[in-house]
Amino acid sequence: MADILIIGSGIAGLSLALKTAEKFPEKKILVLTKANEDDSNTQYAQGGIAVVTDFQKDTFEKHIEDTLIAGDGLCNEKIVDIVIREGRQRVDELINWGTNFDKGDEGNYKLGKEGGHSEFRVLHHKDITGWEIERALLEKVHQTKNIEISQHHFVIDLLTQHHLGRIITRVTEDIQCYGVYVLNLKTNQIEKIESKIVVLATGGFGQIYRATTNPSIATGDGIAMVYRAKGRVANLEFVQFHPTALYEPGVSPNFLITEAVRGDGAILRTKNGSDLMANYDARGSLAPRDIVARAIDNEMKKSGEDHMYLDCRHMDKENFLHHFPNIYEKCKSVGIDVFKDMIPVVPAAHYACGGINVDAHGRTSIKNLYACGECSNTGLHGANRLASNSLLEAIVFSHRIFEDICKALPTIEFPNEQFPEWNADGTSDPKEMVIITQSIKELKDIMSSYVGIVRNNARLRRAQERLYLLFKDTEELYETTTISPQLLELRNMITIGYLITRSAKLRKESRGLHYTTDYPEHARVAEGTML
Ligand code: FAD
Ligand code: SIN
Repeated sequence: MADILIIGSGIAGLSLALKTAEKFPEKKILVLTKANEDDSNTQYAQGGIAVVTDFQKDTFEKHIEDTLIAGDGLCNEKIVDIVIREGRQRVDELINWGTNFDKGDEGNYKLGKEGGHSEFRVLHHKDITGWEIERALLEKVHQTKNIEISQHHFVIDLLTQHHLGRIITRVTEDIQCYGVYVLNLKTNQIEKIESKIVVLATGGFGQIYRATTNPSIATGDGIAMVYRAKGRVANLEFVQFHPTALYEPGVSPNFLITEAVRGDGAILRTKNGSDLMANYDARGSLAPRDIVARAIDNEMKKSGEDHMYLDCRHMDKENFLHHFPNIYEKCKSVGIDVFKDMIPVVPAAHYACGGINVDAHGRTSIKNLYACGECSNTGLHGANRLASNSLLEAIVFSHRIFEDICKALPTIEFPNEQFPEWNADGTSDPKEMVIITQSIKELKDIMSSYVGIVRNNARLRRAQERLYLLFKDTEELYETTTISPQLLELRNMITIGYLITRSAKLRKESRGLHYTTDYPEHARVAEGTML
């Protein structure tokens, strides 16, 4: 029996593990992760972390205002205020744990700018900020005796009263979490881990689309688990597509060309070299992401081209090489000299703005279950996330969860009842994996064709019908087949596809990242979507 069980080893999970381990030196903090410990969206973050540090030019109020504008009427203003003000201290903790952000000659932080930001405020480590954060956190975790990371442990489902034979529905008020069932990928055994507190830090779900910047772990597992356990999820229709992923057919994930490149002056162009954004937005190539991604999508559809271009040829060479060495090298490796050639780019699924619904302390609708990071819906992002606000949200909420756990843990009584072991009766090894891999392809096709950047009722209806067929086939497989990570991910991804599509159908307006040609205007009242 654990006291605190954390699922996920990205910025959200690891920062919480460090805090709880220091506070409770006598307790073991267990972190489960389904792949290698550094496999995470966190490791891929490029642009950096948005936080006000230059108080001569910038203010918390300006950062709050930029966040609210991007969120298009759906942000929770109280949460925005909390994250942006408390974020300053949390970033100092990251620095104290060993994260290096780039500094200028005079020792002041170098600040980047991204779409929707009114000031330069993004702390970064060259163009590999996430790699640097993950490195520092893991190093610190390895030095901390009472944190144990179990890699290659795939969490399947949450333990609730349902496993004691009680009937639970979405309106049951006292659903409680008592632990998880987990597939140990080293032994292929399914284990039951009981815990007083469980924290989901399982990240996003970009993998449900064909083109995505997210690595293979991003399959929405935590969100799907909560929905299956009859917990509340919200605002899932708001999927952020990053406008500038490198166009490389057949390669997954798509390599990101950070928005900070446009912050430093790069310009989006069509094939014939004209300024792509000129007819779309006065802010040009640095307009907010939803606008730029839609403009690129529109130009691709109009021209029949499968990509557009990012032009860096006019940019200062020394500065570019210093700030974006990784992008320079990646482009070079595929035959693109960024100082001579335009970079071919496409929009790619990038970030989940909605997720497991939580309150200001990261508490989900299920008792003793918390969620933080990309898998959660805190109210910070509303209908569209401001660039580089997600790393900040993850550390602010892991701290708030830590504070709540300190109060709650001593009061939690674990029930005497015996939770059953996993029952695999009636299942046998799959004859061939092609059924699962083909279903994953179909799912990605459905989501990309019908529930992408631009939507309408007919497309959403078709997506629902196709998803239902996939769901039926997969549930049958799940009942009869030995469990594998591929099958679990397929099942979770279908659930996420269904939740996005259903939320999108409920939204009879266009707002932020959700754009439908059937309702191109805002509704009179801005409301979230809760499932
Ligand atoms: P993750 O870092 O994704 O970690 C999730 C963890 O959960 C992983 O360890 C995974 O293995 C584990 N997990 C998942 N499912 C299971 C399961 N079933 N069982 C066990 N373990 C599981 N944001 C910014 O603020 N600034 C940026 O510059 C930026 N750039 C980005 C660039 C790219 C290319 C990408 C993909 C994202 C970027 N983001 C950026 C977004 C940001 O990186 C993520 O939102 C953030 O890192 C998410 O952190 P997390 O801890 O919530 O999840
Ligand atoms: C980027 O570097 O462009 C991504 C930043 C983000 O997604 O927050």
